[in-house]
Amino acid sequence: MRCAVAVRQDPQDPIAGLELTELDLDPPDGWVPVTVRAASLNHHDLWSLRGVGLPAERLPMVLGTDAAGVLRDGTEVVVHSVVASPDWHGEETLDPRRTLLSERHPGTLAETVWVPPRNAVPKDPVLTWEEAACLPTAYLTAFRLLFRAADLRPGQTVLVQGAGGGVATAAVLLGRAAGLRVWVTSRTPEKRSRALELGAHEAFETGARLPEQVDAVIETVGEATWSHSLKALRPGGVVAVAGATSGAMPPADLNRVFFRSLRVVGTTMGTRSELVDLQRFLATTGVRPLVDSVTDLQGVPSALGRMAAGDVMGKIVVALGSEK
Ligand SMILES: NC(=O)c1ccc[n+]([C@@H]2O[C@H](COP(=O)([O-])OP(=O)(O)OC[C@H]3O[C@@H](n4cnc5c(N)ncnc54)[C@H](OP(=O)(O)O)[C@@H]3O)[C@@H](O)[C@H]2O)c1
Repeated sequence: MRCAVAVRQDPQDPIAGLELTELDLDPPDGWVPVTVRAASLNHHDLWSLRGVGLPAERLPMVLGTDAAGVLRDGTEVVVHSVVASPDWHGEETLDPRRTLLSERHPGTLAETVWVPPRNAVPKDPVLTWEEAACLPTAYLTAFRLLFRAADLRPGQTVLVQGAGGGVATAAVLLGRAAGLRVWVTSRTPEKRSRALELGAHEAFETGARLPEQVDAVIETVGEATWSHSLKALRPGGVVAVAGATSGAMPPADLNRVFFRSLRVVGTTMGTRSELVDLQRFLATTGVRPLVDSVTDLQGVPSALGRMAAGDVMGKIVVALGSEK
């Protein structure tokens, strides 16, 4: 089976540890094979190659947390990447032993990925393979950040930091479709204008003073934007955080947090039922994921290089099989 595999880890040169190779895998009992038609890249793949979240003793590891594909009986599915432990009964994101594909079990950047049967979620037929492959990480996380962690209602204002990112573009598209007033920041004028085309109402330079305070901030950038996120909030506002691309240890600014009754809510990925709801939301609203570009397995190293450089607007999809 052809796949993209992390064989070494280097915080400074993550792509050097990536190999495209053939592997034979031994799936856990009861797991089902999904023939991958499309996968997509995430910052998670870069973290794994940098040695964050993936212990070195688990190498070599097939990368990838997102895919859409076909079961042996022909059912078209989206892969839900959050794998709970077999004896866990609550929400899978809260299982202390939960794992994402490519952390303990081989990931989705492969011709075939094996998953527990409940993690093969029927794909809505209105979505293409490429669109469906964008959902399991970035879109599911954005959906949960907006509607669960930040608990936003139509008419409220949300600030999305780092407009070009996979999660950020998802938050713009989903937030706009849900009737939110959507503001973004980005470091480049090109990405700010793309965000406006996508549906953002206003776009600001990273760190810029805003015309008024917002109800919630969607934060995945981390150190570079954290203090701006806290300053941007109205009293009682919420920063919903799911990532820290630029660093995870910003000054906490606790005075601001308690004087202004701010809430900081962290979240990771989402549940299977949220993935079902997300697909229904896309089908009902007509919103479709923003695809930056489509490549194949050979193109994964250079595509991850672009992601490491912050040179991406939306999702990079990896086409596999006959549906290239
Ligand atoms: N907890 C979860 O479940 C979960 C799920 C998905 C992602 N994440 C995390 O969320 C983060 C974003 O993921 P992604 O897939 O959306 O990544 P991405 O597509 O690579 O986006 C990162 C964006 O962050 C902004 N950025 C990066 N460095 C910056 C800096 N120094 N200053 C200002 N902005 C900067 C950039 O936006 P501009 O260029 O527009 O400024 C960039 O487009 C990653 O750290 C990822 O691990 C977590």
